[in-house]
Amino acid sequence: MAKLKTKYFCQACGFESPKWAGKCNNCNEWNTFVEELVGKSSKKEEQQSSIGLTAVNGPISIASIAPDELERTITTDEELNRVLGGGIVPGSIVLIGGEPGIGKSTLLLQVALSLTGKTIIYVSGEESEQQIKLRANRIGLNNPDLYLLSETSTGKIFKHLRKYQPDVVIIDSIQTLQSPFVESTPGSVSQIRECAGELQRYAKETATPVFLIGHITKEGSIAGPKVLEHIVDTVLQFEGDHHHIYRILRNSKNRFGSTAEIGIYEMRQDGLRQVTNPSELLITQHNQNLSGITVAATMEGARPLLIETQALVSPAVYGNPQRSTTGFDLRRLNMLLAVLEKRCGFRFGDKDVFVNIAGGIRVEDPAIDLAIICALLSSYEDTPVGSGVCFAGEVGLSGEIRTITRANQRISEAAKLGFEQIFLSGNIKLEKTNYDVELKKVMTVAELFKALF
Ligand code: TYD
Ligand code: MG
Repeated sequence: MAKLKTKYFCQACGFESPKWAGKCNNCNEWNTFVEELVGKSSKKEEQQSSIGLTAVNGPISIASIAPDELERTITTDEELNRVLGGGIVPGSIVLIGGEPGIGKSTLLLQVALSLTGKTIIYVSGEESEQQIKLRANRIGLNNPDLYLLSETSTGKIFKHLRKYQPDVVIIDSIQTLQSPFVESTPGSVSQIRECAGELQRYAKETATPVFLIGHITKEGSIAGPKVLEHIVDTVLQFEGDHHHIYRILRNSKNRFGSTAEIGIYEMRQDGLRQVTNPSELLITQHNQNLSGITVAATMEGARPLLIETQALVSPAVYGNPQRSTTGFDLRRLNMLLAVLEKRCGFRFGDKDVFVNIAGGIRVEDPAIDLAIICALLSSYEDTPVGSGVCFAGEVGLSGEIRTITRANQRISEAAKLGFEQIFLSGNIKLEKTNYDVELKKVMTVAELFKALF
């Protein structure tokens, strides 16, 4: 019997080494090497025949490629179309990552069910056909051209794909697949790399779009090696808070479009529903006159989003004052508090401070600073800011209010939602001068405080 060959793979970056090591020389992570069986020394030709490739490709002139070869498939899901850059590109391979239970399977099943007139194969290594059917019933759609396949071996999967010649292939999930050419267990670095490579060759050779679902690790990156993200054309992240209904589809890599587009969904009893007017849903209280509530005009990628921010400042009852945030960076909050202490003379040292962004959405846009500062001041003073006012501006360390990107879009969105005033940096340069909303320009935090309270 031939001796089994093993190698060590870093589970973080996919680096391979003949010997075990405590620290990966490539990504500097500790204790990430795992022994995996490799080889069977299969010939490359043999591997290719498993996918059914025979054509030998030579170089061709770019001018001779017909443009209609790249005609995209438009789905009924406009959010997905937009995030993909205008529909599904033939032969593209799209990876969707996200936490367990966030709705990846639901999203792709819904897309598959709505693509009527196309043959689709949904390969699931995680659920049985009956379970998928149950989910389809909940979604309430039916598509006779959707075929379900409960299978994990790539060899068998390609056999079925050759027979059915589908227009779209969905793999749920890449971590459950097993290639007959690699002996290590499913989900290991060498398996993921091999299976993704085989699927990529299949996608390119047959011009069939392939969707891969990928699990993510504790740290939030897609489980498996970075090579997976290099192999695929598009990497989408499906995220959101489990306790809230909103889900955001982000794009971190796209060979066929911009990565600035995002899609917003609402998780309901009957599947995911597209949200076309997110701002209206995220501002719930804006006519109630309560202190500590403000509205921020933020951008999520290329999309303006008006979000309600809430702050609560109260005397600390325990020795150590608490600072806690949901949907906002805690260190950023500490910085904003320090600016308010130093530049405006407020004392937060004996106060508990809580900040919350509505809808379970995480905001990274620095333009939310101004709304947070105002919510803090409003709660501190116990004076409502009043409805009809929103904010967009980044706050610097010296208490200055900085300009923001895409100001026009933010202002237009505020006007569309019926806001009367928007506070912005005094330095802002605008293309237009008249908007349907009054522009309030402020230079510093102290000036803002005077203008508001
Ligand atoms: P799922 O697509 O299985 O998540 P993933 O594939 O990312 O692990 O989604 C699971 C969650 O979605 C589950 O907790 C229940 C919820 N859900 C609904 O609320 N409504 C629905 O119609 C469906 C199908 C799922
Ligand atoms: Mg799933």
